[in-house]
This record gives sequence, structure tokens and C-alpha cells, in this order.
Amino acid sequence: MNSAAPQANFAAATQSNSAPALEIKNLSKTYGSLIAVDHLNIAVRQGEIFGFLGPNGAGKTTTIRMILGLITPTGGAVELFGKPMLQQKSAVLARVGALIESPALHTYLSGRDNLRAFGHILGNVSEKRIDEILAVVDLQARAKDRVQTYSLGMKQRLGVAIALLNNPDLLVLDEPANGLDPAGIVEMRDLMRQLSAEGKTVFLSSHVLTEVQQICSRVSIINHGKLIIDATVESLTKGSGKFIVTAENAPAALLAIRKQPWGADALLDEQNRIITQAPQNRGKDLIGFMVSAGFVPDLVALQEENLEEVFLRLTNDSVKAGR
Ligand SMILES: Nc1ncnc2c1ncn2[C@@H]1O[C@H](COP(=O)(O)OP(=O)(O)OP(=O)(O)O)[C@@H](O)[C@H]1O
Ligand SMILES: [Mg+2]
Repeated sequence: MNSAAPQANFAAATQSNSAPALEIKNLSKTYGSLIAVDHLNIAVRQGEIFGFLGPNGAGKTTTIRMILGLITPTGGAVELFGKPMLQQKSAVLARVGALIESPALHTYLSGRDNLRAFGHILGNVSEKRIDEILAVVDLQARAKDRVQTYSLGMKQRLGVAIALLNNPDLLVLDEPANGLDPAGIVEMRDLMRQLSAEGKTVFLSSHVLTEVQQICSRVSIINHGKLIIDATVESLTKGSGKFIVTAENAPAALLAIRKQPWGADALLDEQNRIITQAPQNRGKDLIGFMVSAGFVPDLVALQEENLEEVFLRLTNDSVKAGR
């Protein structure tokens, strides 16, 4: 047998694996004088759940429409699996499933008949595949019921089911948790995790930051069409390395801390807690200092920010900076 063949296959496989599932390169879209998307650069690795965040009007849906070739960029390009979207649209979009804002469902038809109708457009979608997808989105029990009797969460899940019909490698979901109650959000989160575990790449836009924090490995935050930050959730939420300290006589303890080189920026927050750096950035050294200075602390904890706080801080900063 030809010994070169497996190597060639291996090379092809590694090459396709190393290309990002989605790469947005210098992407822009203007509407008249309005710059909806402004030289945006984002790369999404294969297999990750990537959060695309931004306040209302930031340009998320416009970006997603360009990713899917629904509107033409004013500048820049989108690559899917290493291939230019505009030039190889039908080939690359065959590997993508999408849900933009609310799904366009036939509400007078059953969930199953909706999948059949959308499957018919795609061609080659078997009843078996429809059964599998109904199981994935947990709608088997209601598959025969008309969609107009579905809850919002069920409709969103049916929207994801439609996006899954062609067994895509990349799912692009615009606000999949939009309007869902806490139980619906948890169901959607579980579904995203399950799809990711199956090896699919998920690119989702969301306002539900606590959800993004829980399921995404990386996020981009945009505002006024511009990228503000692209980082791992872990690095965004790990905080500044400052500590929160509560102690009796906090104002006097603060004075003692501020005399130290590491504590010059320490302050009291509105709850009378000291927020400070620690000597050598170590909590135990901070405790040691306080004890030796005569202020035994009640609590010393690393200060963390949740993604919502980070999001608000960064989007406010970008407004102040006039970006
Ligand atoms: N077809 C259009 N014509 C003119 N302006 C548009 C068009 N589509 C979007 N815009 C504008 O582009 C900007 C970005 O809109 P976009 O819908 O992408 O924001 P978004 O981040 O998805 O917001 P939301 O969180 O509210 O869904 C907005 O100022 C919007 O008014
Ligand atoms: Mg939108």
C-alpha cells in the first residue's frame, strides 16, 4: 500500500485543524455616515465556545450577518475554516449553522414539520436526523405540537435545532438566550456545552453576561463597532490582584497600609472595606503585616470582578475615551 497516503491525510487534517473556525479580518460595515462595524479582528479556534459581547447597537448582529454572507462588508474579510467566505460561500457555509435573533418559525406547523420544512430546503435531511436533533434539543415530547403552543425557550431550542440540521461544524448564534427565563437559560447553556463536547465550535452573542461567563472560554467585547478587548474569561475576571480586607478600626489600618510601598494606592470602599495590594502580592504577607501592626483582620480575600462588572467598566471606559 502507499505509505505516503496516511501522512498526506495527517497533514491535511492538521492543516484544517489549525485554521481558526472563524476569522474576522479588519471587518467594517458603514451605513451612510454610521460606522456599524469598525475594523474588527477576531479569531475563533475550532472547538471553543466564544462569547461575542457588546451593548445594544454595538454591531454584533451586523458582524454576524457579514459572517454568514447575508450582507456585504464595506471593508475587510471573513474566513471560515481558513477559506474566504465571499469567494467560497456555498462550500464554507455548508459547515455553518446559524440562528439570528428570533428564529423565523412556521408557528402553525409542529416542531417536527418545521424541521422537515427547513430540511427540505437543505435537501438530504432524513427522518432519523430529525429524530436525533429533536433529542439533542430535548423537544421529542412536544415534536407533534404546533409551535404556537411552545414556550419561548422551546422556540429558541427549535431555532437551534434548525441551525443543527446540516450537522454544522460551526454554530453562529445571535442572542440564543434572548428573552429566556432562568430555567430556559440553563437549558440553553447545557445545550451549548453538549454541542461543544461533540466538537462543534460555538460563536454566540449575548447580553446575558453571567451565562457567557459560565460557558465561554474566551470573549470579545465590542462597542461602537470596535473591539475593546479579546481575552479569556479567566483573565478578565481574575481581578487586579487586589485584596479586600475587613478589620475593626479600618480607617486606622488603612493609614498604616498606605505608609507601605505596596499599599500606597489602598482605599476604603463604601462598605468600609480596605481594598489594597499585598506585599509580594501574597495574602499571607498582608495578614502578617496587619497582625504585626496591631490590626488583626476579620477577612482577607482576593478581589474578583464578574464579567458584568468588567463589561460595564470597559464599555464605559471606551465611551469616556471617545471610542
Ligand atoms: N440596515 C441598516 N441600516 C442602517 N443602520 C443599521 C442597519 N443595520 C444596523 N444598523 C445600525 O448599525 C449599528 C449596529 O447595529 P447591530 O444591530 O449590529 O447592533 P447589535 O450589537 O446587534 O445590537 P443589539 O444588542 O441591540 O442587537 C446600530 O447603530 C444600528 O442602528
Ligand atoms: Mg443584535
